[in-house]
Amino acid sequence: MRILIIGSGAREHAIARALARDPGVTDLHVAPGNAGTAELATNHRVSASDAESVLSLARKVGPDLVVIGPEAPLVAGVADALRDAGFVVFGPSAAAAQIEGSKAFAKGVMAAAGVPTARSITVTDFGAIKQALAETRAPYVVKDDGLAAGKGVVVTTNKATAIDHAWAVLSSGSHVLVEEYLSGPEVSLFAVCDGVRAVPLLPAQDFKRVGDGDTGPNTGGMGAYAPLPWAPPDLVATVQQQVFEPVLAEMRRRGTPFTGLLYAGLALTAAGPQVIEFNCRFGDPETQVVLELLETPLSAVLWASAAGDLSALPALRWKSGSAVTVVIAAQGYPAKPASGDVITGAGADGILHAGTDRDDAGNLVSAGGRVLSCTAAGASLSEARDAAYALVSRVHLRGSHHRTDIAAKALAGEIAVPSH
Ligand code: AMP
Ligand code: GLY
Repeated sequence: MRILIIGSGAREHAIARALARDPGVTDLHVAPGNAGTAELATNHRVSASDAESVLSLARKVGPDLVVIGPEAPLVAGVADALRDAGFVVFGPSAAAAQIEGSKAFAKGVMAAAGVPTARSITVTDFGAIKQALAETRAPYVVKDDGLAAGKGVVVTTNKATAIDHAWAVLSSGSHVLVEEYLSGPEVSLFAVCDGVRAVPLLPAQDFKRVGDGDTGPNTGGMGAYAPLPWAPPDLVATVQQQVFEPVLAEMRRRGTPFTGLLYAGLALTAAGPQVIEFNCRFGDPETQVVLELLETPLSAVLWASAAGDLSALPALRWKSGSAVTVVIAAQGYPAKPASGDVITGAGADGILHAGTDRDDAGNLVSAGGRVLSCTAAGASLSEARDAAYALVSRVHLRGSHHRTDIAAKALAGEIAVPSH
């Protein structure tokens, strides 16, 4: 199979790496990619969200399968443009990608499908902010309705901060969602979908806040581990039955069946798993750990979804043990990431690239907020964690920062699901 991957993060590097060792894959292309994907595939300097450019690249490369990594091209209809031209694509249509593109849309789908989620109020004018906050009470959860790369959400007990964020979102021309606060550990569960069926992958946990102990602003994700030693044994089956199946049925009923990857961000509350958000693509950095453990050739999984029939896919096989990834972020991330700084020590296997590039002299340099994702597997969570941090310690990038507590609470047995 010749495969074209769209995107440039560590998620795409992880996908490229899994496909590069897949015996079914003979030729790998990435657009635009990064300095890491350049080592195992042919990079093409094409903007991921520009449907015309992606289409003309696909016509040139002639892929058997196109895999779209990030949400922006999906929401912009790049999968539709490619499919209309006859390509086989992993990733939903723009209409189905609204499940991530609009939080209000996702709430509507969940309400119709009876999926457990936080009560929410959509605010469209400045006058309604205070009333909405009064109805939900602290801690306040205030969200940008549209795409914001994980950074559009403020969770705070401070009412003035909540009002300021709502004001800023409305001022930017977007709508605001004010939500009830969900209390309980968070889980990211992915399912590969063909419009009718959902095949769940391993549950993972992401670390969204920039600082140790879940402090500071939200980011795209600072680290992850899988699987979750503390998760209830019936978690995946419960989410399959209460979330994935009803959502797929509702999307089908609306005439916009969901194919590709459906990502459920869940809080495991005392009332059971509740959906915090949906994404219409693989999560970053969770993908790095989930694919690290996947034994089934990835091309077979993506192909079955893209071709619209998961029924013949054999049960997925997973390595035993655990995987951990730790993100190295640029100085100033998430507010104002520095770029153009030289990176050394990033040559080891498992150091996946996100915001990296080569300068004119061929040096590896930073080129984005999240720069590297140091990923390792181990026989136990503890071994995997040590191996991931050993990779982190090899890297030098001026001013960079990373969390030192990825998977630490899980390892210490400090995560508990509130009982019903
Ligand atoms: P989102 O972009 O919707 O995933 O939100 C980003 C992060 O904000 C989530 O991973 C949670 O940590 C937090 N969050 C969002 N919504 C809620 C909620 N209703 N209750 C508690 N925390 C939330
Ligand atoms: N790790 C969170 C996301 O991919 O949205």
